Order: sequence, then C-alpha cells, then structure tokens
Amino acid sequence: MFVSILLLCVFIFFIILHLKSQRPNNFPPGPPVLPLLGNILQLNLENPLKDFERLRKSYGDVYSIFIGRKPAVVINGMKAVKEAIVTKATDFAGRPQDMFINEVTQRKGVIMADYGSSWREHRRFHANLMSSTNQKVKPSLTYLSLQLYDTFPVIRHLPLPFQKKAFQKSNHFFRYYVLDNGSSSFSEEQLIMNSLDLHGAGTDTTSNSLLTGFLYLMNYPHIQERCQQEIDRVLEGNCQASFEDRHKMPYTQAVIHEVQRVANTVPTALHCTTRDTELMGYSIPKGTLIIENLTSVLNEEGQWKFPHEFNPENFLNDQGEFVKPEAFMPFSAGPRVCLGEGLARMELFLMMVTLLRKFKFIWPEEAGEPDFTQVYGITMSPKPYCMKVQLRAPQ
Ligand code: HEM
Ligand SMILES: *[C@@H]1O[C@H](CO)[C@@H](O)[C@H](O)[C@H]1NC(C)=O
Ligand SMILES: *[C@@H]1O[C@H](CO)[C@@H](O)[C@H](O)[C@H]1NC(C)=O
Repeated sequence: MFVSILLLCVFIFFIILHLKSQRPNNFPPGPPVLPLLGNILQLNLENPLKDFERLRKSYGDVYSIFIGRKPAVVINGMKAVKEAIVTKATDFAGRPQDMFINEVTQRKGVIMADYGSSWREHRRFHANLMSSTNQKVKPSLTYLSLQLYDTFPVIRHLPLPFQKKAFQKSNHFFRYYVLDNGSSSFSEEQLIMNSLDLHGAGTDTTSNSLLTGFLYLMNYPHIQERCQQEIDRVLEGNCQASFEDRHKMPYTQAVIHEVQRVANTVPTALHCTTRDTELMGYSIPKGTLIIENLTSVLNEEGQWKFPHEFNPENFLNDQGEFVKPEAFMPFSAGPRVCLGEGLARMELFLMMVTLLRKFKFIWPEEAGEPDFTQVYGITMSPKPYCMKVQLRAPQ
C-alpha cells in the first residue's frame, strides 16, 4: 500500500515537472523535452556542432532546446541575429546570471555582467581608456614638469598651480571610479575582475586569429605575395606601418578580414533577454538564455560571394576596393559588441603587416596536406602546426 502511494506521488511529481518544462505559448519550436534532463541527452556535449546543425534543419533559424529545465533559444543567420541584437538591442543585451562562471567571477567585471548600471559604468570606463589608445597623446608638458619637480626641489616653492590641479584631477578621477563609496559600482574587487576580463577576452582571441591567418597565408602563397607587394609599395621608405596605412592597402585589408571570417574565433555569444520580447514572430519571455550563432552569419549562403572558401574577394568590389559586407560580425553587434574591437583590429593589422613585410611564411613540405579543421572551444583555434620563416630581402 505504502509503496504504491509512493510510486503514485513520484509519478505525479514527474508529470508536474514535465508540464512545467514544456515550452511556453508561441515559444520557438524544438525537440521533445524530457523531464529534468531537457534535451541534453540529444546533444554530444563534447562537440555539439553537428547536433545543432541537425536541429536547425528540422526547426528553422530560431529554435529552442532545454538544458535541464532551463530553456534556451538558438539564433542562426543574419536576419534573425540582426533582429535580436541590433533592432531589439536592449531586449537581448543581458547575460545569464545562473551559470558556473557567474559564481567564479562573483558577478563582477564586464563580460558576464547583466545589462544594467554596473555593466554600463564599467563599459564606459573601459571605452574611455581604449579610445585614448587610438589618439596621439602629448605627454610632454605634464611629465616634464613632474620631472622638473622631482629633480629640482626649488621648483616646489614656485607658485605653479597647474601641477596641483593636474594631480587633483587624476585623484578625483580615481576616487570617483576606483574607490567604492557606496553609490558607485567601482571597487578594488571590480578592478581586479575587469583586468581579468580584458586579459581573458583579449589574448586567446587575437592570437588564434593570427594563427589562423598564417595557416592560410602559407597555404595560399599567391595571396601572401600579393599582400607583400602591396605592403612594400605603400610603406616604401617608411620604417614603420601605422594603422592609417590600411586605407591605402585594400587588398591586405580584405585578406585580414577574410582571415577573421574563416577564423570564426568566437563562434557563439551568450545573451539573455532583459524583458518579455518577440523574435521572428515568436514570443520569448524575460530571462531566457539566448545562444547567438555568429558562425552561421560568417558563412551564410547569400551573404558572401564565396561563403565556404578562403577568398579575399569576399571583401573586394569589382574595382578592387575594400568593402565590408553587413554579415561581417566576428565581434558580434549591438550594445554588447566586443569592447576590444578597435584594439583587436589595430593589433591584427599592425602585426600582420609588420611580419609580412619582414618575413616570408612557408608551409614545410614534410608537413603534408594542411588540416584547416578547427579545435572546438569557447574560442576556436586551428590545430597546432609548424611553420618555416624566411627573412625577406630588405625593402
Ligand atoms: C580578434 C579578436 C577578438 C574577437 C574575435 C572578439 C570577439 C568578441 C565577441 C564575439 C564578444 C561577445 C559579444 C556579444 O556578447 O555579443 C566579445 C566580447 C568582449 N570582448 Fe572581444 N574579441 C576580440 C578581442 C578582444 C580584445 C583585444 C579585448 C580587450 C582587450 C576584448 C574585450 C571584450 C570584452 C570586455 C567583451 C565583453 C563586452 C560586454 O559584455 O559588454 N575582446 N568579443
Ligand atoms: C552555428 O552554425 C553552424 C553552421 O553555420 C553550425 O555548424 C553550428 O553547429 C551552429 N552552432 C550553434 C551553437 O548552433
Ligand atoms: C561617490 O560616488 C558618487 C556617484 O557615483 C559621486 O558623485 C561622488 O563624487 C563620489 N564621492 C567621492 C568621495 O568620490
């Protein structure tokens, strides 16, 4: 008797759970959901890319899966991705807050911060810092007077109000931004998390893009040579390349963008809806995990002249001028667009141009056929490879 009542209770419990994890009204379609487990048994967790492809074929560009009891919406293709993160920008600008990574980062920093005042303040702070990397700065006056001040103590007694003012200004700046005075989201903890964020977001991404670049340039030697000819011509007589030179190097620009397109360095961006909203006619409640598939935009048929091959023509018009198709979004788009985009683009350009000018990169004969398949992860990377490097004749 007792056992059958227990069994009945368990049965009812599962029925309720099952009903609760069903899709809400007008939610994007997807595979049948198991109680408690959701769809995880239907996914190969080590590399679910094939499964995601299969689901997109069955359910369309916008579909849903359940990770355990948690619903997630996967968004593919430029039309849907753009509607979400550009047109409905703020609706889709949140970040999930119930993941392991949130515990690790204590919900601080920028990358995993939810859409709100703390994220906004820190993003603005970094954007200010980053914008000064792109400008000519004139450090001489302040540094000179400080140096004079330290070297010749007598100066300290001269009435030089501007020195103090400069100090007060920076003191004020740091007090405002760094010290936690209760009403501000800036604190020492935040500063540390922000540094970790920038380091984490800025190292693997850029180096994996460069690794992909050299893998392709070695195996498409005519493309490498054409870049080198253009670089030699534009930089003739200059000892260094500057970021401004990109405007005179349409072909090299196209190659670097094509490298970023095939490198597909950050394949997906995780967002979260900040309010009840709609996408492509479906209803999506507030707090739903959104998996934005950037790969599906970077190789989408109809958006590119050559979606499935490495070809700089994807970024060149009939006149050989550089053009950037709308579907080029390796940095994502909208309010959450990569904060380091400007810095990353400058790094990629200056490193590629400087290295290509000095060296010839050669695929070693003994290495056999190149393998362009990528190693799956939060950032995608090419398989490890060896390269031969030859000094070019001085230009
Ligand atoms: C080739 C290099 C890079 C690529 C492909 C890349 C790509 C991305 C992508 C796709 C996102 C997610 C955007 C979204 O959620 O919609 C992102 C976010 C971010 N990236 Fe990058 N990134 C690169 C380099 C960098 C660098 C150099 C830095 C900083 C030094 C950086 C800092 C960040 C930060 C802070 C965020 C989070 C922004 C936010 O949540 O508001 N990234 N990046
Ligand atoms: C993203 O799209 C690509 C095809 O362009 C597919 O191979 C991959 O599985 C998709 N990833 C996700 C997370 O849906
Ligand atoms: C504390 O923060 C508020 C707002 O964030 C700011 O207006 C105020 O100047 C700060 N106080 C100090 C002492 O920095």
